[in-house]
Amino acid sequence: MADPMHDAPRASITGRALHVFAFPSLLIAACLTGFLPAAPAFAKKPPPPVLTAAAAAVPDSYSAAAAKEIFAEGGNAVDAAVAIAFTLAVTYPDAGNIGGGGFMTLYVDNKPYFLDYREVAPQGATKEMYLDDKGNVEPDASLVGYRAVGVPGTVDGMWEAQKRFGKLKWKQVLAPAIKYASDGFVVQPWLQKRHDYAARSFAGKTNFDVYFSGLKAGATFRQPELAETLKRIASDGGREFYEGRTADLISTAMYGHGLVSKQDLQRYHAVWRDPLTADWNGYQIVTAPPPSSGGVGLIQLLKMKADLKPAFDGVQLNSVPYIHLVSQMEDRVFADRQQYLGDPDSYKIPVAKLLDDSYLASRAAEVKADAAPGATGVKPGLGDTMPERAQTTHFSVVDQWGNAVSNTYTLNGPFGAGVVVDGAGFLLNDEMDDFVTKPGTTNQFGVTGDEVNTIAPGRRPLSSMAPTILLKDGNVALVIGTPGGSRIFTTIFQVMTDLFDFGMAPQDALAAMRFHHQLIPPTTIFYEPYAPITGDLADALKAKGYKLEGQPFNGDVQMVRVNGTTPEADSDPRGAGVGAVFPLSPSK
Ligand code: GLY
Repeated sequence: MADPMHDAPRASITGRALHVFAFPSLLIAACLTGFLPAAPAFAKKPPPPVLTAAAAAVPDSYSAAAAKEIFAEGGNAVDAAVAIAFTLAVTYPDAGNIGGGGFMTLYVDNKPYFLDYREVAPQGATKEMYLDDKGNVEPDASLVGYRAVGVPGTVDGMWEAQKRFGKLKWKQVLAPAIKYASDGFVVQPWLQKRHDYAARSFAGKTNFDVYFSGLKAGATFRQPELAETLKRIASDGGREFYEGRTADLISTAMYGHGLVSKQDLQRYHAVWRDPLTADWNGYQIVTAPPPSSGGVGLIQLLKMKADLKPAFDGVQLNSVPYIHLVSQMEDRVFADRQQYLGDPDSYKIPVAKLLDDSYLASRAAEVKADAAPGATGVKPGLGDTMPERAQTTHFSVVDQWGNAVSNTYTLNGPFGAGVVVDGAGFLLNDEMDDFVTKPGTTNQFGVTGDEVNTIAPGRRPLSSMAPTILLKDGNVALVIGTPGGSRIFTTIFQVMTDLFDFGMAPQDALAAMRFHHQLIPPTTIFYEPYAPITGDLADALKAKGYKLEGQPFNGDVQMVRVNGTTPEADSDPRGAGVGAVFPLSPSK
């Protein structure tokens, strides 16, 4: 199968209502069997478009083609998002998934929503499950193999979102993914490269190679078992994964190896939560609440920078003084992150206090142009209360009715725990590593945490994912997100700052150099392969007292910006993503 976005004409959107059934009795029967969204657009004329086009920024060309197909069938942003997510589970298996979890921030009919479909710890999990008898962390135990797996949330998340807001039939949104799994897709060189690296780390430990050794650049890669799994989910609904044959296959694979049981799957449910919202720079930010730290971190950074306007005045982007000021803000954000953030269903998380304007102004006032680098001494502020190792993926979608979806989801490490469910053909996550396996130790992203993020049955591990939507006067202005573990919200912060404080064009904002600092190690500035810190800048930062460390990770921002009524979709030049605009057909 050819790469479908290459040379493909851009899609037209019909904007038509979906006239699903001619016979009411069939409609009732279909609703009762759960094959339709709960509120099907039965013969209801859709509202007139408010944008000139739909648009999507996605991490690969196959998911762009899926979005095109769904919009051409009359789907909305939620239908397109669900189709993209299932497609990426096939064509982008290092992070796209049905065996992982994530977050979806939505803006539908002028209202913000947030869907948490993060994995949870199985009932058999314990606080010390990754420690040996001497109390030391067992290397790789929370990263590789069945014991690293949290109860997956993606399928229930997609099912909930599409049921609540989708216009098309559930089967329709799964169709592109089923086609790619059955007929195959042509593997791009970057995917083989990521595969080869992961295969080395999983060799002899998991069944990864049994399923993925055919992932070779230029070859057509087919996944027949995954195709059957997707077909079951398409015909029986999203709960099939948790209660049907797929659940049996997962629990059988786990038997004697891992902890996820049939009961864990049955009791799993995605959760609708209130999104975080905040006013900033004339915009309203809508972003991820706990169990993500991403939204809190992003808002803290943006607001502190606004408070520090006098200090930033005249400071050039990515100069030594700029990096020094931002690093001090990041010290404070990461100090709060490790102390206060975790699963809101287990602990009362002091979100309002962490985002309070006067609290942030007091934290910003501690940031000084002439401070010594290194945050030794920075404490949480509320008092005592690799080739790329980081792997997650993001996509941003808007439709012509002004609805938007910002979705970040993950297997955690690339290709997750490296284990494939025998007979079902999909990879499982290693999200248990996002818990604190032992207070004081760091996870694969080099961040630590406290009691609030320790392992407990049914608890969600703390995340950094921050799917974000920016509104201007109640209309979508920006949809943005990225993979990157603890780098996620510092990356989004930088791109938003480049766009709105420095007035850069979207492509320039995406291409600009990015850096990262996270309290530990105290004086280290991480730089990326795409735009490394070298030459005079490197020398000047070292002279100031910073250490520079390359990270094997770039970020892969996918964003849609809306100017007036015109959407523009842009993909990070660091990745293989596609920004696609799907204009309305002239007749609509
Ligand atoms: N697994 C990466 C994150 O949730 O932040």
